Amino acid sequence: MNTFTFQRPFESHVHGRDGHLLQAVAPLTARQFWGAIFEPNLKPPITTGKQARVYIERIKAATAEYPDFQAFVLGYLTDSLDVEDLYESLLDGSLLGVKFYPRGATTNSDSGIEDVRSLYTSGTKQFDCINAVVAADKVIQLHCELNFRLDGSELDPYDKEGYFFAEIMPRLQEAHPNAKFSCEHLTTAEAVHYMLKNGGPNLGCSITAHHLLHDRRDMFRGGLRPDLFCLPVLKRYEHWEALIALVSGNHSFVYAGTDSAPHDRRTKESDCCSGGVFTAHAAIEFYAEVFYRHLHLGPGFENFVSVHGPKFYGFEPSDESCTLVRNPWTVDDELHYSINSDGVDSIRPHGYSKNPEERMKLTWKLV
Ligand code: NCD
Ligand code: ZN
Repeated sequence: MNTFTFQRPFESHVHGRDGHLLQAVAPLTARQFWGAIFEPNLKPPITTGKQARVYIERIKAATAEYPDFQAFVLGYLTDSLDVEDLYESLLDGSLLGVKFYPRGATTNSDSGIEDVRSLYTSGTKQFDCINAVVAADKVIQLHCELNFRLDGSELDPYDKEGYFFAEIMPRLQEAHPNAKFSCEHLTTAEAVHYMLKNGGPNLGCSITAHHLLHDRRDMFRGGLRPDLFCLPVLKRYEHWEALIALVSGNHSFVYAGTDSAPHDRRTKESDCCSGGVFTAHAAIEFYAEVFYRHLHLGPGFENFVSVHGPKFYGFEPSDESCTLVRNPWTVDDELHYSINSDGVDSIRPHGYSKNPEERMKLTWKLV
């Protein structure tokens, strides 16, 4: 097989940032996907329908080369969100849903929810926000980690997701039986077991390409690799196996969401490395590589990247097609972009290395 044609894919989780960075990265997503959900963790975060509409205009301007590309934005769930504005913005389509970030758990999460209990305790503003999303029949995306257990003790980074699925997800689902939750960028066997037991039309999950290509040994290979540090952090091999098994199941509640998260090299390779892996330059080729190496590049791949995601969010999958060609290539350049009128910075695309020998080799190329 030398070509593989499939319905155009949908990106359910991408960080586009803003300004010059948005202009550099958004076209890469628009080139591959017919539509994408842009995450709201900007500085300041997107919390109102008005901000979302203006942000979508900026995304459109950055992706003018791809006029059919559709951008969707979520509202950042904060402790002080205006419930009325949220509900109206969901109804008029300015917001596709909301995103829950536990405060301090990841990049740009300082406006996140301080006490997760507020989401499942009736009478709180946060509880009402979830109800507004349910009433508008939209989706609540969840960053499924906590820094602290409910008793206040600090969690180990490798236990954060398992704890969330053991203690928080059941409470959230019990408190909001009609809510539609999308659990983002899963990384553990515990999350996989929870999804296999409870996944369906009201509970979906996204999986990134980098969590399907790597386990944590890669992050420590030859030293500490900032370009592989993301949140949730890569886990051990056995968790990778569980993720591959989940994706192999062709479940309607499992879909692609790259979590492509650009950071310039100054903030990645500095005294405090920001979490985030940038994969937008070859998102589909990375996923294709996973299926080609470990599963099968066939209908299961197409459903995962093109069908399950849009359907979960209430869209018809694309009726256009695109083609992957077997044409081995190597990720071979940094992404340079201007930071202001006279400065230039760069992002290290996933798979790139200064050492040509170490650059990632990919089998398929999207045409
Ligand atoms: C994301 C970012 O950089 O915005 N970082 C990450 O490590 N995944 C935030 C997020 O989605 O957690
Ligand atoms: Zn993300």
